[in-house]
Amino acid sequence: MFKGEKTRLRALERSDIDNFMTWVNNREITQYLLAFSVPVSRAFEEKWLESAMFHTATDKVFAIETLAGEYLGNCGLHQIDSINRHAELGIVIGNSAYLSQGYGTDAIKVLLRLAFDNLNLEKVYLRVYGNNTRGIRCYEKCGFVTVGRLKRHRFIDGEWQDEVLMEVFRG
Ligand SMILES: CC(C)(COP(=O)(O)OP(=O)(O)OC[C@H]1O[C@@H](n2cnc3c(N)ncnc32)[C@H](O)[C@@H]1OP(=O)(O)O)[C@@H](O)C(=O)NCCC(=O)NCCS
Repeated sequence: MFKGEKTRLRALERSDIDNFMTWVNNREITQYLLAFSVPVSRAFEEKWLESAMFHTATDKVFAIETLAGEYLGNCGLHQIDSINRHAELGIVIGNSAYLSQGYGTDAIKVLLRLAFDNLNLEKVYLRVYGNNTRGIRCYEKCGFVTVGRLKRHRFIDGEWQDEVLMEVFRG
């Protein structure tokens, strides 16, 4: 069910902490992530993992792995709003050997299926930095459309970046 052509989503486990530590301080990956503007410790990540392992009504986070079981990163739905039936998508392919090979697109398609078919959401939206052209291309491939752009909204590594708002509706 939670499986695509290249990836599957599974629940996070405490043992994923070692997987996290392979990318959380890799700037190639984290330059595009809001929560990682400074280096983070293992203890910080352990604390985050401890809460992310438990789904709540508003947040559901998953590990992404290849069909062969290799950990690739995480994705999730946040700010889940059951009245207005929308949620914000977040994703990271932390294993840089797997970037730009379709794994992110595949995992998002699985997550969208979960959002629409299992959580009965009507819309999923996301925010992405304007310089994250790979991310934007990936989201477009998944059906997301740009609906807004906040200019010079984020100050990252000494430069201002726009924040782009994208959304996709249940098909
Ligand atoms: C964003 C992310 C999830 C996308 O996953 P991915 O597996 O790398 O992306 P995909 O291979 O599925 O799709 C990327 C597309 O962008 C293209 N692309 C790659 N680099 C690009 C670039 N610099 N500019 C424009 N397009 C680019 C790829 O060719 C591919 O398009 P195609 O299939 O038409 O050729 C992943 O790159 C990632 O986690 N990056 C680091 C963290 C991050 O940016 N998270 C998202 C924050 S909003």
